[in-house]
Amino acid sequence: MLVNMKDILKDAIKNNRTVAAFNVFGYEDAMTVIEAAEESNAPVILMTNKDAVEFMDIEYYAKLFRTMAKNAKIPICIHLDHAKDYNLIVRAIKAGYTSVMYDGSQLPLEQNVENTKEIVKLADVCNVSVEGEIGSVPYSDKNLDIKEIYTKPEEAEYFAKETKVHALAVAIGTLHCMQVQDAKIQYDRLEKIIKLIDTPIVIHGSTGVKDEDLQKLTKYNVGKVNIGTALRMAFATTLREEMKNNPNTFDRTKLFKRPMEEVKKVAINKIKLLGW
Ligand code: G3H
Ligand code: ZN
Repeated sequence: MLVNMKDILKDAIKNNRTVAAFNVFGYEDAMTVIEAAEESNAPVILMTNKDAVEFMDIEYYAKLFRTMAKNAKIPICIHLDHAKDYNLIVRAIKAGYTSVMYDGSQLPLEQNVENTKEIVKLADVCNVSVEGEIGSVPYSDKNLDIKEIYTKPEEAEYFAKETKVHALAVAIGTLHCMQVQDAKIQYDRLEKIIKLIDTPIVIHGSTGVKDEDLQKLTKYNVGKVNIGTALRMAFATTLREEMKNNPNTFDRTKLFKRPMEEVKKVAINKIKLLGW
C-alpha cells in the first residue's frame, strides 16, 4: 500500500514506535527492505538519495517503487532524501513520490525557512509530505563540506511553526556514514526540542546510533530514523565474500542472493529495535 509520511509517523509515535527509513538503490535492495518490513508487520520508508538519482533518473525509481509499494502488504512511503534542488523535488512529485525532504541545512536560517515554505506549499496541494532540516548533521568524511550545527531548540520551534513541515530532521549528535554504532545522542537537547514542537522528529545518520539508543528514541516523539550505511555495509561485505568464494559465478542473481539475505537480517533487526 502506497502512503505518504504523514499517515505513518503520527500513528507510530502514538504507539511508542519509530518508522525505519532506508536508503535503497534499485530493485534488489528495495524488495529486500519490503520483505523485511512485511515480516515485521511494520510500515517502511524507501528513500532515494543524491547518489541514486545521479545513477538513474528519478522517474524510473518512481515507477518501480510505486509498483512495489502498491503490491506490498504493508504501508510504504516513497521519499526523496536530502534534496537541495527545487526542480528535482518538482520532478519527484510529478513522478509520484509521496514524500520529499528539502535540505536547506547549509543555508542561513531565513533562507532555509523561505525555501522550505515554498516546498510545503507545493507539496500540500499534491498530498505529498515534506521533511525539513534545522541545524546540520555532518558526515564522517571530513572532506565533505557539510557543517556540524547542533539544533537550537528555539530555532526548531520557529522553523516548525513557520514552515509547517510534516517531519523535522534535527542535529543532536549523530553523524552520517558512521561504520560503528558510537553516536553520542544529546537527550537534553532532544527533550528541549520536543517540549516546544509536536512535529515528528527525524534522526539522520542512524547507522551510528547504538541499539539501546534506537530503542530509547521511540519514546521521544521520533517518527523516523534514516539508515543507509548499515545496509550498504552488509551488502558489500557479503558480496566481496561471495565473489571470492565463487570465482566462476557470473550471474548477478546468484551473486546477490547471500548479500540480500544479510541486508534483510540487518533491516529486520533495526525495525525490531524501533518497536515493531
Ligand atoms: O539520509 C540518510 C541517512 O541519514 C543515512 O545515514 O548512512 O549514516 O545511516 P547513515
Ligand atoms: Zn541524512
